[in-house]
Amino acid sequence: MRIGIGNDHTALELKAEIIAFLEENGHEVVDYGTKEAKSCDYPVYGEIVARAVAAGEVERGILICGTGLGISLAANKVKGIRAAVCSEPYTAKMSRAHNDCQVLAFGARIVGAELAKMIVDVWLNTEFEGGRHQRRVDMINAVEAESNWH
Ligand code: RB5
Repeated sequence: MRIGIGNDHTALELKAEIIAFLEENGHEVVDYGTKEAKSCDYPVYGEIVARAVAAGEVERGILICGTGLGISLAANKVKGIRAAVCSEPYTAKMSRAHNDCQVLAFGARIVGAELAKMIVDVWLNTEFEGGRHQRRVDMINAVEAESNWH
């Protein structure tokens, strides 16, 4: 799978571990995140990765900031994107099975590298179940359409 990754300055070390994990598991990674330890603005990277997913440049996106929150909030403002902050594998699994999230976020100040790898692994290997969950995702999309976003 071709996966886009984005991060702010809090997540350089964790991002490197996640990229290595993804590549070891046969994925292609596009790194859209900052490469510098200098303080930067997480919305920039949330938006870049979300737009890459929305445009089909990458199939999925993974975002890391201090908590996962700010960067996911930015990503969720891009039309069609469903980004979930997941600090444990159960939520990560459900974010795929029930919510069809194409973007995963977590916090470098919240999860350690081994837990983050478990979260990524289950998230990448869980399919959307469709059915009644598709109806609910369609309802989310309708809220977005009614909000007249671009
Ligand atoms: C940066 O200090 C921090 O605010 C950011 O990484 C993130 O946690 C925001 O939600």
